Amino acid sequence: VVKYRKDYQPSQYLIKNTNLLFQLFDDYTLVTSELKITRNPLDNRETLLPIELDGVELELVSIHLDGQVLDDSDYEKRAHTLIINKVSETFNLTTVVKILPHKNTSLEGLYTSSGKYCTQCEAEGFRKITFYLDRPEVMSEFTVRIEGDKAKYPLLLSNGNPVDRGELTDGRHFVAWHDPFVKPSYLFALVAGDLDCLEDTFTTMSGREVKLELYVDKGKLDQCRFAMDSLIASMKWDEQEFGREYDLDLYMIVAVSDFNMGAMENKGLNIFNTKYVLANKKTATDADFEGVERVIAHEYFHNWTGNRITCRDWFQLSLKEGLTVFRDQKFSEDMQSAAVERIDQVKIIRAAQFAEDSGPMAHPIRPDSYIEMNNFYTVTVYNKGAEVIRMMHTLLGKTGFRKGMDLYFDRHDGQAVTCEDFIKAMEDANGKDWSLFRNWYRQAGTPVLKVDLEKLADGHFRLNCEQSCPATPGQEHKNPFMLPIKVGFLNNTGHPVKFAETNDAAGVDETLLVMTETKQSFDIYCESDSLVPSLLRDFSSPVKLEYSYTQEELASLFAADPNPFNRWDAGQTLMTQMLMSETSKLTEDELSVVDNAFIKILNDEELDNALKSLAVMVPELNSLIGMSDNVKLDQLFAKHKQLKVHLGEKLEHTWFSIYNTTSGDTSGDRWLRNTALRYMMIANDEQHFELAATQQTHADNMTDELAALQVIANASEGYRSEYIEQFYQKWKEEELVMDKWFTAQVVNDDEAILEHVKALLNHEKFSIENPNKVRAVVGAFVAGNTSQFHNPTGQGYEFLADIIIQLNKINPQIAAGLAKQFNQWRKFDSKRQALIQEQLVRIKSLDNLSNDVFEVVDKSLQMS
Ligand code: ARG
Ligand code: ZN
Repeated sequence: VVKYRKDYQPSQYLIKNTNLLFQLFDDYTLVTSELKITRNPLDNRETLLPIELDGVELELVSIHLDGQVLDDSDYEKRAHTLIINKVSETFNLTTVVKILPHKNTSLEGLYTSSGKYCTQCEAEGFRKITFYLDRPEVMSEFTVRIEGDKAKYPLLLSNGNPVDRGELTDGRHFVAWHDPFVKPSYLFALVAGDLDCLEDTFTTMSGREVKLELYVDKGKLDQCRFAMDSLIASMKWDEQEFGREYDLDLYMIVAVSDFNMGAMENKGLNIFNTKYVLANKKTATDADFEGVERVIAHEYFHNWTGNRITCRDWFQLSLKEGLTVFRDQKFSEDMQSAAVERIDQVKIIRAAQFAEDSGPMAHPIRPDSYIEMNNFYTVTVYNKGAEVIRMMHTLLGKTGFRKGMDLYFDRHDGQAVTCEDFIKAMEDANGKDWSLFRNWYRQAGTPVLKVDLEKLADGHFRLNCEQSCPATPGQEHKNPFMLPIKVGFLNNTGHPVKFAETNDAAGVDETLLVMTETKQSFDIYCESDSLVPSLLRDFSSPVKLEYSYTQEELASLFAADPNPFNRWDAGQTLMTQMLMSETSKLTEDELSVVDNAFIKILNDEELDNALKSLAVMVPELNSLIGMSDNVKLDQLFAKHKQLKVHLGEKLEHTWFSIYNTTSGDTSGDRWLRNTALRYMMIANDEQHFELAATQQTHADNMTDELAALQVIANASEGYRSEYIEQFYQKWKEEELVMDKWFTAQVVNDDEAILEHVKALLNHEKFSIENPNKVRAVVGAFVAGNTSQFHNPTGQGYEFLADIIIQLNKINPQIAAGLAKQFNQWRKFDSKRQALIQEQLVRIKSLDNLSNDVFEVVDKSLQMS
């Protein structure tokens, strides 16, 4: 069944108090729930309808209404609901259900992960725990009592504060919890197990002391310090930047190995994928550390943007996710290099979000409909949602944005609200009318911004801008968007120049143009014979920019644009133009434009090593595919390889000297050095093999050790298996390092790789039930080995379909995520389209297809 945003009606009932008892037994769990239910004051229906509680895969043991046993005829249990026919304005409902956490492989609801119990309730997982009004606008005060075996589960955790504990018979014990803040069911959490704990404290700006507890599997305490420090830094940052203080006396984080997503912001008890908690220099790469810092911050920031103020319904998901991603991005920009962070953010938009926008699942950041909500935890809702918030920040400036945030918190604390409420707070706090801006919430698709620069007279230029947006499923016609466009200029000698928007104004280095119509022109006054515009600086709007730059113009921006983001982008555009042109091979001239530009970058003493590393990276295949509507894959693969080989060979001496003279002391240094190693190996892997082998053997950190393993695993035959084995023997007990080991082996673009990928699925360290492992092998192959996934035989497609079919039963969420990998199919040649279509049809014809997979595959097949 499709759910539509336009059909929203407030819940007729609310649950004031939720009192839960969990009795954990060896092969089942009993959940007793006492709910104090009242009529919703917002409800204006004439009559009281039967109450429909959500409940999935629950065995009903007993049911009482106001203390009376209900007759069979008083209620009806359907597959996904429990309907009670006659209820009054207020009543108490008590149910007992039996559930099977050990058999729960969907990792939604209550499940077990290496010997401990944990939960994942967002979006609609709470209904797998007990009968409930499982929708976010129903906010309730929770009291929870957990009973279990004391030896196996010395820790019994839930949200809020512990209020009671004690012994029971048969070696069992209990702990009771109370959460003083009302919350929706999706923020409920429970953990039971025997875990190690890293403790610390944080004193808030008003002087309250908060206990911080980080729980991990036994033996992992030496991988916890960084996550704890990140938490403390996040708490401090939210106070400084937004005046937001933590509100409970206790903040707990538990890391589990089996988790569908990154982490979950449950009130006072975050549950995390181990990937975003465990990190020390030996086991985690520099990129892993950044991931931990970012996700810890993200979940912490949700305490205000998500928990204190939550979503009225799931169509509003971007209210909390777009905003919280924006907040974690700002945090990372402050902790790391802002330009590097911004480049990483934009790469995600271009590779994944633009792809989503041009495929069958295209949706506005506030979707209009869904079949399975879990399919809408997307790069559009999250990352494009964050871009939309960022545009507000750009338009209002830091101070105006903060004013809007303050008003939002003042107005809506303790409420479940909508995206509209957020925009309204921003408008009201700043005296703006943002009717047009709202199109970002209504319309799907990536706007195209076409710009040209006209010279009207000496010293007088005009930027002509035109925007359009392609049709997306269900949205034929689009209205214009409000586009903030940050611009600057270089003159004909490649130097930044001052300019003005009227002929008597003082010159500026940069300005923000705001486009509100389909076509608009902006006058520019500047004493220069010609200008090279640096457009859309810092990616000030999430659009595709079209400007017919010459190669010389791009090279001059790449060499000297004072905006580091645009400087990087000029290099990417330069290479993208060449790679995506109609020709079947790059010419000598094109190749030398790139290698000359690279030399300038590498010799620039001002530029830091992280930015250099980014600048000399050839655009990734996924991002090239994501940005265009029609892709000649075979030609693209050939040219992409040609460019990389050329850069490796032509600059071999430069790479070699960078490798030998760069220290490995900072993450930027390691990055540049390993970039050099990668190019050297592309140029001549036999000659440089020893270097890589030595690096793998002697590295004292995972960044260098893994970089070496990666180049070795991608080298042509030789002794590579020896080093793959050496790495395995050293790290086979560290699950997260094993994930890296798997991934390193599946991205080789050798024809024979698929057989190896299949063999890895039978490896003793692989498990199809563990999402991290599935992502490490299958996800990494289909998304990271673009050329072999798209092998013209179609075997890559068949392989992916086989896995989706297998996972459909085990874990529908992960299966559906993988199925989205087919969504780009209409961009390819007719032969590949036919091969993919065949697999989509095969999946769709399955019995017992989950909603999750059905929605993705069905929409894909409808795409013409
Ligand atoms: N709210 C979580 C976060 O943003 C993600 C929850 C994902 N849940 C899901 N069913 N897909 O960190
Ligand atoms: Zn989130």
